[in-house]
Amino acid sequence: MEDYRISLTANRKSKDGSIMGKVLDFKEEMIKHENSSYNVYKKNPFITACDRQVRYIDRHESKEQNAIMFGSNSYLGLCNSEYVINKSIECIKELGVGSGGVPLLTGTTIVQNELERSISSLTGFEDSILFTSGYCANLGMVSGLLGPENLIVHDKLNHASLIDGTILSGAKMLRFKHNDLTHLEKILKENTSKYPGGILVVTDGVFSMDGDIADIPAILNIVRRYKCLLAIDEAHATGVIGENGGGTLSYFNIGYSKDIILTGCLSKALGVVGGYISASQEIIDYLRVYARSNMFSTSLPPGDCASVLASLELIRSTDIVKRLFFNSNYLREKLKDNGFEILNSKTAIIPVIIGDDLKASLISKDALDLGVVVNPIFTPAVPANLSRLRISVMATHTKSDLDMLVSILINLFNKYDIQRL
Ligand SMILES: Cc1ncc(COP(=O)(O)O)c(C=O)c1O
Repeated sequence: MEDYRISLTANRKSKDGSIMGKVLDFKEEMIKHENSSYNVYKKNPFITACDRQVRYIDRHESKEQNAIMFGSNSYLGLCNSEYVINKSIECIKELGVGSGGVPLLTGTTIVQNELERSISSLTGFEDSILFTSGYCANLGMVSGLLGPENLIVHDKLNHASLIDGTILSGAKMLRFKHNDLTHLEKILKENTSKYPGGILVVTDGVFSMDGDIADIPAILNIVRRYKCLLAIDEAHATGVIGENGGGTLSYFNIGYSKDIILTGCLSKALGVVGGYISASQEIIDYLRVYARSNMFSTSLPPGDCASVLASLELIRSTDIVKRLFFNSNYLREKLKDNGFEILNSKTAIIPVIIGDDLKASLISKDALDLGVVVNPIFTPAVPANLSRLRISVMATHTKSDLDMLVSILINLFNKYDIQRL
């Protein structure tokens, strides 16, 4: 128990300095975790879709179990929607399972074009470009637009894909404390004259581990004063907040602007896979050539595009976004009433703070035994004193699912002697 250690990304150096030494050190650590049944490196495989209720195989007992899912990014429950599945099948029968080429050669059918138009009408921006993942969209946006002559200023909690894009671009990177606009302004004041080539400020719209929303009106105000560009990662905002799931700008009632670039995911609330950038026509035309994760990579399969189109149709024609909002608020209030620390969550992501890596792992494992899937999140993804369960609410959860989760958490917090407020 005492030498319990999690180093999901920190384990990058070996005792003897060699490549294989590093690999073998990690193997040793994995075996230790596996022998202790910690719920960290290996998960039980599901044998059903990542829906409200799932069935999985318990790896240790080799038997099938049911659980209610509180760890899926498919917030609207669309990844297993019959309507979406049927639209996908129809399209696959007509256009095949793969696109057969990169977007600028043979990988573009009318379905990719239609999806780009549909995303632009959701975001309200001039044009959009598709990627095979949200990760690739962020990589392409940052590395396509910036070079070593630029500065990029990140919110400290921005997603890893934005950081990786920065490394690829060679741009100088600075980070401001999470949602701390005084700090952002200080950085811009000190650096604007040093970067005549331009500065890009980047923030997640909805933060993936905290579920809070960036203060875009205030950030935009500062960004415009210093004549920078602003990029917003809409991964957990698209389909979740704003009118008809239009995202962070819609939530704040801010319209299209040439100095804003949006990136987003088709893999989360929209339930499928892929990513996008929405921006001005000029920026999109440029990125179709200079975003290398688009230009040099086989395009999103037509069947996936048809699925996303069907998801967008359901968002417009049903009340799923409202139901997600209702469920998220209900659970948030119930957790708060029972003294759980949930930071400043305002969306479908609700962090339940535990503050101890080992206890987070054990609680996640016990919760599964009691019938709910909850993801434990540790250092270095979050600071050690803020290790947590990351609860993801779905539009398809029932009131009794949400009540059951809270009562399981109360029991487990008591079992592991964790204070509530
Ligand atoms: C904020 C954020 N941006 C980008 C991504 C990458 O998206 P995808 O999983 O579609 O590659 C994620 C994924 O978790 C994310 O949380």
